[in-house]
This record gives sequence, C-alpha cells and structure tokens, in this order.
Amino acid sequence: MERMSGYSKEDFLQLHLEQLFHPKDIPTLNKCIQDILDGRGTVDSFEITMINKAGHYVHTVVTVVPIYIDEKLEGFYLIFKDVTKAKMTEELLIQSEKLFAVGQLAASIVHEIRNPLTSLMGFLQLIEHSDGEKNEYLKILSDELMRIHSITNELLVLAKPQAKKTNRENIPSLLNDVMKLMDSQAIKVGIELVLYSEEKVPDIICDGQQLKQVFINLIKNGIEAMDEKPGKITIRVMRKDHHIIISFTDEGIGMTPEQIKKLGEPFFTTKQKGTGLGMLTTFKIIENHDGNIEIESEVGKGTTIHVILPIQSK
Ligand SMILES: Nc1ncnc2c1ncn2[C@@H]1O[C@H](COP(=O)(O)OP(=O)(O)OP(=O)(O)O)[C@@H](O)[C@H]1O
Ligand SMILES: [Mg+2]
Repeated sequence: MERMSGYSKEDFLQLHLEQLFHPKDIPTLNKCIQDILDGRGTVDSFEITMINKAGHYVHTVVTVVPIYIDEKLEGFYLIFKDVTKAKMTEELLIQSEKLFAVGQLAASIVHEIRNPLTSLMGFLQLIEHSDGEKNEYLKILSDELMRIHSITNELLVLAKPQAKKTNRENIPSLLNDVMKLMDSQAIKVGIELVLYSEEKVPDIICDGQQLKQVFINLIKNGIEAMDEKPGKITIRVMRKDHHIIISFTDEGIGMTPEQIKKLGEPFFTTKQKGTGLGMLTTFKIIENHDGNIEIESEVGKGTTIHVILPIQSK
C-alpha cells in the first residue's frame, strides 16, 4: 500500500478518504464500509481510483473482507491490487478496435461510393465540354465531387491493411512533385513553399503514391493553420544514420498539448470543412512504412511535423 500510494504509515493516520481516492468512488467505498458496520457486509470487490502522493491516478481493484471473531465484527481488511497497466492495455485495445472499425467502415463506404462517383464525374465532364450554355453551378458541382473523390481516396488508405512498398523512390523528388501540385494553392494565400534538402539522400523502397499523400496532407494542414496570413512553409530533408527525416515547419496557429494528443483520432477536426481524417491517414501510412512521426508545436508560433522513415524498410 505504501509503495502503491507513495504515503508512509504515518501519513495514513492523518489521511482522509477524500485525499486518497477519486471523489467519484467515495460513495461506493462508504456504502461498502457502512454495510459491514451494519453487519450486512460480505466479501466484496470493486474498482477504485487511488490518488497517490504525487497526485497521479492509480487504478486499483479493492477487495473488502470483514473480520469476524466469535461472530462479532472486529474490523475489516482492504486489499488493493494495482491494475493501472491492465487498464491502459484495455484502453489501447479499445483504440485499436475503433481504428479497425473505421477501416472496415471505410472499406464499405468506399466500395459503395466509388462507382456512382465515377459516373457522375464522367457525365459532368461531358456537360462541361458540350456546347451548351456554361453554368456557374457546374464549377461548384465539380469542386464538390472532387472533394468527395479525395475523401474516398483517404478512406481507401485506411481500408487497405498494407502499403505496396515496391518502388525505389527519391524523397526530394517526390516532394518536388507535391510542391508543384500545392504551389498554386499556397501562392493564392501568400504562402511560399521552400525545400531544403541534403545533397545525397538515398532512395528508399516505399509506396510513392502514399508518401505523396502524406506530404500533401501535411502541407495542406500547414497552409490551413496559417489562415491566409502570408509566410513560409519550410520543408527540410536530411539523413540521420539509417533514417531519413522530413520536417514540415509552418508559421501557423500551432496546437495545444491536448490538441496534439488528439491528432490522428478519427474525425478530430477544428475546421469547418475538415473531415479529420488527414492525420489519421498520415499516421497509418507512416506506420505501414515502419516510420515515425514527431510533433513540435507552440500556440501562436507554428508547428513542425517530423516524418522519420527507415532507409531500409522491413
Ligand atoms: N500544422 C498544423 N497546425 C495547427 N493545427 C493543426 C496542424 N495540423 C493539424 N492540426 C489540427 O489537427 C486537426 C486534425 O487534422 P487533420 O489533418 O487530421 O484533419 P483536418 O485538417 O481538420 O481535415 P482534413 O485533413 O481531413 O481535411 C486539424 O483540424 C487542426 O486543428
Ligand atoms: Mg488536414
């Protein structure tokens, strides 16, 4: 008990229940003790959250055992078992089950949406190219269809269990392709995309299309975080031992530690038009490449996202 709570024997003599346990658990504990004192108590066991001396929560299971001697209640034992680790594993499991469910859902949505979408886009192109009167709504229609198209693309990544890591690709040249694609969008809002790369970055075996998707997601988030204020998004590529590090630095609104923690949760977004799938897809793709993502962010200053990829992927 001393080890679990951090309190010494002497401390315990001075402690109130309210100091040692989470307020939500106090009524249960009180009722259990009262039942024993009233002679109705039997051996009982339930979950209770302890607050240790350092102020951290320790999840425990307590077993209460009344002590009767000659049928007279003499006291009771409280036996605590630390289940914090098991609890954390359980939460991780729930999280990964959720992700799996999202993947399954994604697969079925993508399957249902793709075909009608393709035919809609085809017909729209026909109308646009026909001689008839140009309709301003056509552009909106086409933009919105493109949006659905890109959402289904993201969902597709989540639905696919593994990336096709079959191509030998050069990271700086993948980045160059992506920057060409994003440049016009950035320039429109006064943002400059700058790439600094070490000279000889080795090629890696990867799924180039998927990595491009990651780079697009990160640059798009950077642009959106700068909220149409002019500035720079800097992309750096360097080699460190057996890894390539690609860092994206924006001068945007930044994130609080709570936001950083939520990053990558399905559907977490602070944007009116966001889907909250961008970072989830990004994490998933990098995980599929045996890589890692590290985040540095300061509210009001900006964010740097480091993508770390092994040079020799398994
Ligand atoms: N570079 C960044 N700077 C500040 N906040 C960020 C940055 N990147 C992500 N975020 C925050 O994380 C949230 C989730 O990002 P994510 O890319 O997953 O979804 P989204 O951008 O909102 O929507 P989507 O990418 O699907 O269009 C964003 O809404 C935003 O609040
Ligand atoms: Mg995004």
